[in-house]
Amino acid sequence: MNTNYSDCLLTEVAWEVCNQVGGIYTVIRSKVPTMTEVWGDRYCLVGPYFHNKAIAEFEAIDTYEADDVFAQAVLRMRNLGYEVHYGHWLVSGRPKVVLINHFSAFYRLGEIKYSLWENHGISSPEGDDLLNQVIAFGFLAKVFHQQLDETKGELPCVSHFHEWMTGTAIPEMRREHVKTSIVFTTHATLLGRYLAMNDPNFYDNLPYYDWNKEAVNFNIEPAVKIERAAAHGANVFTTVSEVTARECQSLLGRNPDMVLPNGLNIERFTALHEFQNLHKEHKDQIHEFVIGHFFQSYTFDLDKTLYFFTSGRYEYKNKGFDITLEALARLNWRLKEENTDTTVVMFFITKQPYHTINPQVLQSRAVMEEVRSNCDAIVQQLGDKLFEAAASSGDLKLPDLNKFVDEYWKLRLRRTLLSWKSHELPKVVTHNLVYDNQDEILNFLRHSNMVNNEHDKVKVVYHPDFIASTNPLFGMEYGQFVRGCHLGVFPSYYEPWGYTPLECMASGVPAITSDLSGFGDYVLKNIPNNENKGIYVTNRFHKSYHDAAQQLADQMYHFVHLSRRDRITQRNRVESASEHFDWQNLGSYYDKAHRLAFSIAVNA
Ligand code: G6P
Ligand code: GLC
Repeated sequence: MNTNYSDCLLTEVAWEVCNQVGGIYTVIRSKVPTMTEVWGDRYCLVGPYFHNKAIAEFEAIDTYEADDVFAQAVLRMRNLGYEVHYGHWLVSGRPKVVLINHFSAFYRLGEIKYSLWENHGISSPEGDDLLNQVIAFGFLAKVFHQQLDETKGELPCVSHFHEWMTGTAIPEMRREHVKTSIVFTTHATLLGRYLAMNDPNFYDNLPYYDWNKEAVNFNIEPAVKIERAAAHGANVFTTVSEVTARECQSLLGRNPDMVLPNGLNIERFTALHEFQNLHKEHKDQIHEFVIGHFFQSYTFDLDKTLYFFTSGRYEYKNKGFDITLEALARLNWRLKEENTDTTVVMFFITKQPYHTINPQVLQSRAVMEEVRSNCDAIVQQLGDKLFEAAASSGDLKLPDLNKFVDEYWKLRLRRTLLSWKSHELPKVVTHNLVYDNQDEILNFLRHSNMVNNEHDKVKVVYHPDFIASTNPLFGMEYGQFVRGCHLGVFPSYYEPWGYTPLECMASGVPAITSDLSGFGDYVLKNIPNNENKGIYVTNRFHKSYHDAAQQLADQMYHFVHLSRRDRITQRNRVESASEHFDWQNLGSYYDKAHRLAFSIAVNA
């Protein structure tokens, strides 16, 4: 066999290639430019084909013209009767990508499942759609690598698989002696996520769980077995953080060979003030929302208002929504005690089933826009008349501006304002939720009477939908919203890595994370003076709920008392510290894993 590392091929297989579901998409996609820089034409991604997603992100190339080893393997698969697409993923770096329509193997599902059971003891029930899909996908990922074996000849190859959804390919490739060295990265353990949600002493109990019993308990036995088979079958087993490495040891029974921390493609502006200007610009957009939402009931000084936010899937405890609310209640009390003139508006951006946007919230926003357009009309009229008067006047005295606005507009503005002002409190939730009564965020707010009273210094806006520019309330992209805020709050209880605070950093926005998140743990070990750089870490490991909530409240309180000048300096620091997380740096961990896998292949 050719033992030259510079000739080695690399395939990278993930369910989220061209298919955004969660954070793994961010890992793969943001890493592409660094990967293609290092591997060039020897790199190829493999993912599932979903027509609706592929039309937006994928461009096919003519397989006959492409004539490389990957294209030839694709042709061979087509000859076997499978639907496989080959082309470029239209993201920065434009990597080659093979998209497999796993449904084209569905007619063999019975036989594929039988083999999994017979050879690996993994039985899979009927009727679980996701499970059927990933099993078919894993099968075809194996077939692809078998064909690649034929077309690549003596070239060495490393194949990097992510997450249990690609997992069934691994034990099968080992059994059938496919000539490639396998790296498997898990981005969480299935059991860990379930157990953390259900057991308040998850971290203390971690070494003592019986994985099989718990898997049966949560009704996820097939997926857990796939995950274990992948972890044990891989030549090199890795995960995203030391936090998750501990979990793998206990719940999967294999200690990861390496930890591969997640990075981003950090785009830095050449001029420092550019991202500061963007903060100001997008903060003004958030001001618009806040005026529309709150000012019909009462007003506060926007120049002394701070925007905090949290975002992510609705896992109340895992995402730390519980201690965030507790800390906000304590902060509110403290700020009221000292009668500060600062207001904090906290946004919860997450996803929960809802019927519609609350009509009152929409209405208020619409009337506010009417007020704005009345004002614009008045300004226009006033400007024209003032200009005429000033130009034609003989003396230098400024004329009385009031007389330039005609009665029609005065009356109209007055009426609009009247119809806008309301005696009701501003809503804490922007949508009509399907499960309003059971909602844990709402129930906390009700019990602690944090319902946007005028005297509250901490106001809450719970937006149970992700933010997109098409959303009528904010009308901005999520990334712009992040830039406009002052502080991201992510004190997770369970979070293998956690991109949200890192995304804040990359936008120059300070953030709070926790030592139980992979990211927070990494920060504590690798970024000296992290608080000074605007990355606060709440300690939750071996800490009670109340201690953690208190520390979080103190961190928020400290932030509230920074001066504007301090905040500007801190934003500069956090933005420059983000460079550490660029794939140009963190890509080196992937490189080490691939070299290790390669050395295993050539020494086999
Ligand atoms: C940026 C802008 C400044 C603005 C400041 C507000 O730095 O460049 O013009 O004054 O943001 O900062 P603040 O933390 O109060 O939103
Ligand atoms: C999983 C984890 C998340 C991590 C992501 C990317 O979704 O839950 O913490 O950021 O994978 O590794």
